[in-house]
Amino acid sequence: MSAVPFVPDTRDLGRLRAAAAECRGCPLYENATQAVFGEGPESAEVVFLGEKPGDREDRTGKPFVGPAGGLLDKALEAAGIPRDKAYVTNAVKHFKWESQGGRRLHKKPTEREIAACRPWLQAEMAVLHPKVLVCLGASAAVSAFGRHVRLMDFRSTFSSTDLAEATFVTLHPSALLRIPDPDQRHQATERFIADLRQVAERLG
Ligand code: URA
Repeated sequence: MSAVPFVPDTRDLGRLRAAAAECRGCPLYENATQAVFGEGPESAEVVFLGEKPGDREDRTGKPFVGPAGGLLDKALEAAGIPRDKAYVTNAVKHFKWESQGGRRLHKKPTEREIAACRPWLQAEMAVLHPKVLVCLGASAAVSAFGRHVRLMDFRSTFSSTDLAEATFVTLHPSALLRIPDPDQRHQATERFIADLRQVAERLG
C-alpha cells in the first residue's frame, strides 16, 4: 500500500495535484468524493500540515475550509502569519469517514495510511522547500517524522526531519474545538497562538 507508483517525477504542483486525483495507493479513495491536495503559493515559506480532509474539504476539494480551518485562520491572524503566504496541506489526501445515523463521521487515519500517502507530501516539500513545516496534531507529526512519535514529546519545539530542517509541532485546531469548557478552550487557544508566534519569529 503506497502512493509511490502514482507520484509523477515532476516539480510542478499542478501536475502533482492532477496526479493525486487519480491516486489508488490506499483504499481511502473509494469512499471519498475527491483527493484534497495542498493549496498555497509555491513561494510559501511555511507549510501547515493537517491530518486529513474533513467533510467540507471533501466536498469542496480544498484543505482547511471547515470549522478547523476557520480557527486556524483566526490563530494565524493573531500570530501575524498571513494565510495567503502559507501553503496548507494534509498528511492524508482523502477523507476517511464512517456513516453514523446518516452523518459522515470522520475517522483517524492509521499510521499505515499516513505512510502510504507520505510520497505526496515528500513531492510537495521537494517543490516548496519551506523554512518551517508546522505539524498540526499527532498524525501530521507521524507523517513529518516518518515514524511513530508522540505529540507531547515534541510540542512547541523545532526538530530537523528529512522533510524540513525546521519542523515544528503543535496541536490540531480540531482538538481545541473539542474542549467543552469555554475557559479551558480559551486558554488552550492562547497557547496555540503562542506556538504560532514562535513560528512567525522563525520566519522573521
Ligand atoms: N482537518 C484537517 O486535518 N485537515 C483539513 O483540511 C481539515 C480539517
